[in-house]
Amino acid sequence: MLNFQCLKFMCVFIFTCINIWPIIGADLSIVINASDDETKMPPVVASTNTAQKLILVESIPVSISLPPKKAMITGIAGQDGAYLAQHLLNLGYIVIGTYRRTSMDLSRYFWRLDKMGISHHPNIIFKTCDVSDSSSCFNIFQEHPDVCEVYNLAAQSFVKESFTTQTSTLDVDGKGPLNLLEAIRQKNKAIRFYQASTSELFGKVQEIPQSETTPFYPRSPYATAKQYGHWMTVLYRESYDMYACCGILFNHESPIRGEEFVSRKVAKAVAQIKKGIQECVELGNIDAKRDWGFSGDYVKAMHLMLQQSTPEEYVIATGKTYTVRYMVEKAFARVGMIIRWEGSEDQERGIDTATSKIVVKINPKFYRPAEVDLLIGDASKAERELGWKAEVSADQLIDMMVDAEMEQTL
Ligand code: NAP
Ligand code: GDD
Repeated sequence: MLNFQCLKFMCVFIFTCINIWPIIGADLSIVINASDDETKMPPVVASTNTAQKLILVESIPVSISLPPKKAMITGIAGQDGAYLAQHLLNLGYIVIGTYRRTSMDLSRYFWRLDKMGISHHPNIIFKTCDVSDSSSCFNIFQEHPDVCEVYNLAAQSFVKESFTTQTSTLDVDGKGPLNLLEAIRQKNKAIRFYQASTSELFGKVQEIPQSETTPFYPRSPYATAKQYGHWMTVLYRESYDMYACCGILFNHESPIRGEEFVSRKVAKAVAQIKKGIQECVELGNIDAKRDWGFSGDYVKAMHLMLQQSTPEEYVIATGKTYTVRYMVEKAFARVGMIIRWEGSEDQERGIDTATSKIVVKINPKFYRPAEVDLLIGDASKAERELGWKAEVSADQLIDMMVDAEMEQTL
């Protein structure tokens, strides 16, 4: 009886191995990527050297060790770098996180990764790489020629700053992607490359809403540099048969957004004003309209773009647009303050209706030499082809950011 059971188990085991081998052998990425939907698919357990996947075949669990995929994220210390690293680690990747050399204490420099609890994750390897330096880019692939995917997020990403740092912005945001593409072409053309393009490329918009086919009309040194990076990525794909693509992402924010960007500036100021730490916030053009989404949602689209059969550009957006003025009103409303507006242009003021105190002032120093007045994205291609859709609305995002600031300033 025991022997019969053993024989039966061995037969089922051999049958199982024969059946799953072609799946594993044919395309490892299909098996690994299936874990994108973590609630439905089998779990991926990451360890330093292997990722293990549990596959159920005919009710018999079989554990198979697969080598984990290795991804490189440039600009890992930034907002998107932190969310993307978290996402890829959850999917079982080993992450090579690159940052440019800093004199700052690294435990402070990686504050975003710390907040997410991943700065000491065993599957992150930190390396210095300045993307504006071609030899730095070559060296990183010399050391890690076996990365499967590169996400180029490194940038001088503050639009206003680019009007005073035109040359260095071009070096990082324009030449940076070129340096990486050329290093990849020479070291390992099989590496898949993601370039962080931007809705700023649409600038003075030629169409509403903006999609992958809307012509570009950049309105800042940042956007013109990004346009160079964008077209270099397309050019390398078309010239050298490389898997290189650009995500045209609209504004995306989070509680770990840089403090110079308007969403975080407003969220932080509202919390400080509510607590009596600050009296008022000074802003620039509050009638500019943006399509604001959540960074945690958007990094998932970056990953999906590198899992397709052909590399293509995708617009990533919510499809809704709001003024900065709306964002301010909504943020104050979250802490129970109703704002009334008085005056116009530079003299406009936001008044707290309960106390009649001025809590918002306009300061022309925050105006830009050229403004992008309206952005609203059409992400229907991403929804159709990637199955991606923004999950967090602008209203939810503002609440999330104000709540996070309220906790900070308690
Ligand atoms: P971020 O927070 O400003 O992060 C950018 C990162 O790039 C920072 O860690 C920065 O390091 C690093 N960096 C700057 N210069 C570098 C260099 N020469 N070499 C290597 N790294 C360098 O920006 P983000 O919001 O995460 O955005 C990520 C990417 O998406 C950027 O390329 C941005 O332009 C693009 N994008 C963002 C949005 C958005 O709404 N967030 C929308 C569209 C596109 P330091 O901290 O040392 O400066
Ligand atoms: N930063 C800032 N500070 N912006 C202000 C202020 C202020 O005090 N007052 C008004 N604004 C307006 C800006 O003029 C702009 O129209 C809008 O708020 C958004 O500004 P930012 O938050 O600085 O973002 P951005 O739209 O210029 O650029 C961001 O999004 C791009 C994608 O469209 C950055 O993340 C870019 O890197 C990204 O490419």
